[in-house]
Amino acid sequence: MKENQKQAASPVGLTLAGEINQLLENAFRACGLPTSHARAARASRPEWGELQCNGALPLAKSLGRPPREIAAAVAEQLRAGGGFDVVEVAGAGFVNLKLSAALLARHAQAQLDDPACGIVQETRQRIMLDYGGPNVAKPLHVGHLRSLVIGESLRRILRAQGHDTVSDVHLGDWGLQMGMLIAQIRRDFPSLSCFAPQPELAAASLDEASLGFGMQDLQRLYPLAAAACKDDPARMAEARELTAALQAGHSGYIALWRAIRAISLQVQQQDFAALDVHFDLLLGESDVQALIPPMLSELRERGIGIESEGALVVQVAEENDAHPMPPLLLAKSDGAALYATTDLATILSRVRDSDVAPARIIYVVDQRQALHFEQVFRAARRAGYAPGVELVHAGFGTVNGVDGKPYKTRQGGVAQLADLLNGAIDKARERLGALAADAAEQGAGVDQAVQAETLARLVGIAAVKFADLSSYRISGYIFDPERMVSFEGKTGPYVQYACVRIGSILARAAAQQLQPGPIEVAAEAERALVFECARFPEVVASAATNLAPNEIADYVFNLAQTFSRFYLDCPVLAAESAERCASRLAISTLARRVLERGLYLLGIAVPEKM
Ligand code: ARG
Repeated sequence: MKENQKQAASPVGLTLAGEINQLLENAFRACGLPTSHARAARASRPEWGELQCNGALPLAKSLGRPPREIAAAVAEQLRAGGGFDVVEVAGAGFVNLKLSAALLARHAQAQLDDPACGIVQETRQRIMLDYGGPNVAKPLHVGHLRSLVIGESLRRILRAQGHDTVSDVHLGDWGLQMGMLIAQIRRDFPSLSCFAPQPELAAASLDEASLGFGMQDLQRLYPLAAAACKDDPARMAEARELTAALQAGHSGYIALWRAIRAISLQVQQQDFAALDVHFDLLLGESDVQALIPPMLSELRERGIGIESEGALVVQVAEENDAHPMPPLLLAKSDGAALYATTDLATILSRVRDSDVAPARIIYVVDQRQALHFEQVFRAARRAGYAPGVELVHAGFGTVNGVDGKPYKTRQGGVAQLADLLNGAIDKARERLGALAADAAEQGAGVDQAVQAETLARLVGIAAVKFADLSSYRISGYIFDPERMVSFEGKTGPYVQYACVRIGSILARAAAQQLQPGPIEVAAEAERALVFECARFPEVVASAATNLAPNEIADYVFNLAQTFSRFYLDCPVLAAESAERCASRLAISTLARRVLERGLYLLGIAVPEKM
């Protein structure tokens, strides 16, 4: 990210790291040294101080001067410039530094006063996110779970940076799968009006209510349909014929398709709500079908789409490709449109026909589709469909079971989203069970039972999300409900619990009329906690650049641990003086806000009690 793209938004105007680097640059400049090495990093060992600047060593080489001499000159300027309590030249020419307590306190106070917790606001961009991608009549599975969870987190991270995001679920709601399903429905529900000799007359009356079946039937019918088409060429031919009729606008099939789509979207929206995932647009493959014929003929005319063995393709190979990239197939010899054709038309529609006008489109889709997206992006660029638009595939790896193989249900089928979530929620209920049992003993009523259930959901879903987000998205991970729901270790519930605990300390303080006051940073554990909080803006910026929520997951876990150490070392409510207590309450409030904000960016909500 270029420096000039940043608007100073936090009251301090700079992140702590930015301010430290500025102090170093000033010192290097005052010594007549190039500022390229004016950087400080956290010291790798505590006995080396807090921060370390190693810039004198490479400079010594290029300038032909002794490194200790350079380090000494820099150290002198750093002492004169202020901002550090300790400046020491050590070893071969390192400068060991300890930030001034006053500067740290000022930073912490500014971060506490900033509703954005210091997150740096970027120049606003319209960013479109394509995630979820469930298919009509099929239940969401574990792959969709990853797309939903990662996509939602990226949406929240980019919004926190001040971007204007538009999320689109991009439903798989068109194509052969629809014909296959209609063929099956015709067998099981032959009396539906859309199969009557004059479907036009009957179609108007066909809606979700008059269908006489729901999502559960669809979920049963779809696998039957798929299996029949696989085994029986006649059935496949029938499915193709029905698909063609649907695509040609047969009003009965269109009415049926519309009703099926509505039923399945309704169920899927319940899943989105359970996962707290937000979509601005609920568009799908079907929405761009009308663009396809003119797009294909235009590509043909311009010589970008060429005939090859009866099919229409776009050459997308580029000179420097390590492996030859196969051409993108737009239409098969039978003329049927393909997945890639729809994705290309979708780019055209998003960029040209909608008022979204995105500067970037991010696709959160299985890494196994990497080649597909590279081909589509190249074709879009060749065709000039996305001028100035950055097209990005943020791929993700496979979710495996504890056996290291792709996660399956106990029956051996592809695990459905609802099973996964319910599995984690059940485990959370068990873990929380002890607490609930206590409450029951104390005569808890229906209210508490409802609360306990809400809590189990909150914790179970947090566990799943955190487990999914805490490894880099390209690597797969092992789905292990037992581990992910644990309150110990790097888990969602652990971080949630840390957050709740700080909340209860603050509540106890409030009950005793103790108020947060000016921040003072004295004890090592206070310094460590304030430092860790100050890292938040850098972590968010880096997670956004790398489209990597795992950086935030790592961070909140570290912060939770840093708070635990602080709480062990530094009594808050029983601090030695009223000022200390007020300062520690302020620092605790800061830590709680940063933790909560960090979890929010992962899509995780914090319960009031746990
Ligand atoms: N429906 C697809 C699937 O289930 C995912 C769609 C991803 N998005 C896209 N623009 N192709 O695999």
